[in-house]
Amino acid sequence: MRHLMSPLDLTVEELDKLLDLANDIEKFPEKYAHACDGKRIATLFYEPSTRTRLSFEAAMMNLGGKVLGFSSANSSSAAKGESVSDTIRMVSCYADICAMRHPKEGAPLVASMVSRIPVINAGDGGHQHPTQTLTDLLTIRSLKGRLGNLTIGLCGDLKFGRTVHSLIEALVRYTGIRFVLISPEELRVPDYIREDVLRSNGVPFEEVIRLEDALPKLDLLYMTRVQRERFFNEDDYVRMKDFYILDSAKMKLAGPDMLVLHPLPRVNEISTEVDADPRAAYFRQVQYGVYVRMALILTLLEVNV
Ligand code: NCD
Repeated sequence: MRHLMSPLDLTVEELDKLLDLANDIEKFPEKYAHACDGKRIATLFYEPSTRTRLSFEAAMMNLGGKVLGFSSANSSSAAKGESVSDTIRMVSCYADICAMRHPKEGAPLVASMVSRIPVINAGDGGHQHPTQTLTDLLTIRSLKGRLGNLTIGLCGDLKFGRTVHSLIEALVRYTGIRFVLISPEELRVPDYIREDVLRSNGVPFEEVIRLEDALPKLDLLYMTRVQRERFFNEDDYVRMKDFYILDSAKMKLAGPDMLVLHPLPRVNEISTEVDADPRAAYFRQVQYGVYVRMALILTLLEVNV
């Protein structure tokens, strides 16, 4: 039985196969409409979510399966003090697969160790968010036609943004990737990403503060929100929250094919006037998230269509 804790749990070949499957689902959805008849997914969300939880649920429904779960720690027995390990033992009796989001780094991993069903990490604290990465990779590959030979700008909260950490780890496995890391000094990527992921793989990167300096050289700009819930003090958040605002004037500095991605939710970091720009791909990205989660559910449940 397989779980998904990090994008590195899949080899590059497995990932390619999964993305191919997602593209096939996009083209021929009716072929998959009953692939998971009689199966259930449990969504165990101890932290807020809109897209990730609903896209897992939509994905299972599109496959003919059913969903159950909870959307906050308060509405589960966690509020009574139940451990994640005990909860997953229960859930193994009710469902065939589960997606778990938790504010503590490593909680889904702990769950996977005692689970009788595949566990998918749907975001653990400031650590990893592998299914957002699968979504990002499918979006990039579908819209750019490749996953290598790209200069990628990552902008915003690179310290606490788990989607950024997972995406960097996944992308360093392709050739010709360069990163421009755009953040205020306080929100730079954690040391382990800089040393153990980027430097140790010999991946070229630069760290800059001004978005304007980076924009002209990017194939892709990945914007992120400042992760308010991970700050120790509100004043620091307030100081950082509007550090970057991508607007139409800044988009003029970028090339005609530079895609803008964002895992969403957006707060202020992309002005709504950018939404109409053909380079804005963040809403298309949401749709790819459903296809790739369908492909992941089929893969982990070993359902062949
Ligand atoms: C992201 C997350 O939860 O880390 N959201 C998502 O799942 N698409 C990004 C964020 O919350 O900023």
